[in-house]
Amino acid sequence: MSAVDLSVSVGDLKFKNPLIGASGTFGYGLEFASLYDLSQIGGFVTKGLSLRPREGNPPHRIAESSSGMINSIGLNNIGVEVFLREKLPQLTQIDTHIIVNVYGQDPEDFVAVARELKGVKGISALEVNVSCPNVDKGGLDLGTEPIQVQKLLERISKACDKPLWAKLTPNVTSIVEIAQAAADGGAQALSLINSVKATAVDLRSKSPILSRVYGGLSGPAIKPIALAKVLEVAMKMEIPIVGMGGISTGEDVLEFLLCGAHAVQIGTQNFVRSDAMWTIKKELELGLERFGSDTIGSWVRGLSVFS
Ligand SMILES: Cc1cc2nc3c(=O)[nH]c(=O)nc-3n(C[C@H](O)[C@H](O)[C@H](O)COP(=O)(O)O)c2cc1C
Repeated sequence: MSAVDLSVSVGDLKFKNPLIGASGTFGYGLEFASLYDLSQIGGFVTKGLSLRPREGNPPHRIAESSSGMINSIGLNNIGVEVFLREKLPQLTQIDTHIIVNVYGQDPEDFVAVARELKGVKGISALEVNVSCPNVDKGGLDLGTEPIQVQKLLERISKACDKPLWAKLTPNVTSIVEIAQAAADGGAQALSLINSVKATAVDLRSKSPILSRVYGGLSGPAIKPIALAKVLEVAMKMEIPIVGMGGISTGEDVLEFLLCGAHAVQIGTQNFVRSDAMWTIKKELELGLERFGSDTIGSWVRGLSVFS
């Protein structure tokens, strides 16, 4: 048992520790259940769920890059109905927060998914993906226009009974404007950031590697961008932030907290090491002990620029 108190809050939700598995990198949670005790992590976010199952984009949909990867999965998922029937009953046996990532082709679709989840027990919050950079309809346009983001969140708030987290794209000129719009629309927290628009090229065929040409860059390559987005929003707004982008060590987590995140998500690192969440938690405990802290809360917004 660690002497360090890792508990944090995001709005009204209390987490045992700030480590949450990121959408799209943690399956539906159960895939990781045989690797370590999932009740030891703060929670996880499901793969983005749409109203109907989706096959996603044709291959290639992954390209490697220096210190990261580019994905253009196209929101391949089992659909909300199958999730509720086949996955959730097992997930609710695990004593951790389950956050459902919601995706729609258009606002109607988002609202329909939220309605399906209304009244369902065992789901702590909905994370609304208004930021998908790799589907040619919906996501990108929606997440880059403040008024659309606000209207979408307003509609989902009315359709659902759970806290809403808005997951924002970094691919905008002013993330603060979008963040404010999401808060005005009813988001109780912001998930920052989704992947960064990118492409990869095959020299021999002189073709793009990804079937859809563009994808989203994730992993350590985007950590400095993610830290900057979290800091920009935290400097202007009080809304709780769940930070992510390239976190691979316990010290990375502390950097996000200093910049204003209340909790963090671990994404691509789960592909590098399937026990990443577990090892990062250990590193976090050791890191805090090394810095002489017995509670993690004091790190949130601890960067000198806030004082
Ligand atoms: C293969 C893959 C699939 C993803 N799918 C989703 C998704 O369905 N919904 C979503 O909101 N974000 C999705 N993301 C974005 C991640 O949740 C996260 O925001 C991003 O990868 C940055 O964090 P990281 O650098 O720690 O991976 C996906 C990322 C990857 C790598």
